[in-house]
Amino acid sequence: MKRVRVAVIFGGKSREHDVSVLSAKAVLSHIDKNVAEAAAVMISRDGGIYIQRETAGICRQYVPAELCTDGHGIEIRPTDGGETFRPDCVFSVLHGEYGEDGRLQGMLDMAGVPYVGCGCTSSAVCMDKIYTKIIAEHCGIPTVPWLSFDRETAKDGQAEKEISEKLGFPVFIKPACGGSSFGASSVTRPEELCGAIANALSEPGRVLAERFIPARELECAVLSSDGEIIVSPPGEIIHSSGFYDYEAKYSRQDSRTEVPADISDEIKTKVYNYSKILFRALSCRQLARIDFFLDKRTSELYFNEVNTLPGFTDRSLYPRLIEETGTDFEGLLTSLIRGALNDRDI
Ligand SMILES: Nc1ncnc2c1ncn2[C@@H]1O[C@H](COP(=O)(O)OP(=O)(O)O)[C@@H](O)[C@H]1O
Ligand SMILES: [Mg+2]
Repeated sequence: MKRVRVAVIFGGKSREHDVSVLSAKAVLSHIDKNVAEAAAVMISRDGGIYIQRETAGICRQYVPAELCTDGHGIEIRPTDGGETFRPDCVFSVLHGEYGEDGRLQGMLDMAGVPYVGCGCTSSAVCMDKIYTKIIAEHCGIPTVPWLSFDRETAKDGQAEKEISEKLGFPVFIKPACGGSSFGASSVTRPEELCGAIANALSEPGRVLAERFIPARELECAVLSSDGEIIVSPPGEIIHSSGFYDYEAKYSRQDSRTEVPADISDEIKTKVYNYSKILFRALSCRQLARIDFFLDKRTSELYFNEVNTLPGFTDRSLYPRLIEETGTDFEGLLTSLIRGALNDRDI
């Protein structure tokens, strides 16, 4: 197969900008140069577009650029008169709003350029934890008991009353369309609810209230390639915070992952089956990381969320879990890039 040109888009306007920069660094350094010529395309926090053509890293000079389309592909044109880059496909590692929620995918569909990963609708549905839970329940997959509130009703006292009456305490409050644990908090007393809801409203989308589950956190990587869906063994997140918050995810040294997770065959099989069912039911394409809670008290397994653009750093669980299935980081990226060019009809 000929060497393809890939635009690795990262950064972005969401609060997960910094995480995306780390993912892009890892992706750019692991792309097999025999397979692809990569250009780094950075979206700044205010939405500006910058390109860097070096493939050896992403820390050199970036040049402001325009993103243009004739409907049969895209071009990234440096505004300093430098060479235009016309990618054969896009590999977006934009996490969160605008990048992971279907908006970029819809734009790329309109522009007529293939891209790695889930399509527009699937990305949008998976970004919204309320829609995802409804689909999981429709498939008979257990999810944590929950209530949802739109942005208006979340603010009136009714939401607090309903949460207290129907879910009780402790309860977990989070934004339906957040990521990296932004806007999420656990609440043990009714008087903390108002602040927790306001915190969730700092992120996009509706507000989700869930019964608090003292849980082991299991994550599973799904990779579909050539029509075959590969599901990794589950890995476990081990942290010593009250919950897996932003610091525990990205900076605390005492958080770690165990791959594969030390769990019973029965739970492994459930995670495997639920992941495959959800990947199909949510029309995911190529990749997703599917997360579960295993209740420490009851051993009940609950589906938590689907990430259509999971972390891609060297430490991230998605590439590590795929490695367990026999494909290393380079091989994973090659499979995704080739798949993006071949699997448009999946
Ligand atoms: N119902 C819950 N009970 C206990 N902890 C929860 C619950 N929901 C989320 N958490 C904690 O918050 C973290 C972030 O929530 P999650 O739903 O995964 O959103 P995000 O998209 O921000 O990762 C989880 O990894 C877990 O530690
Ligand atoms: Mg999560």
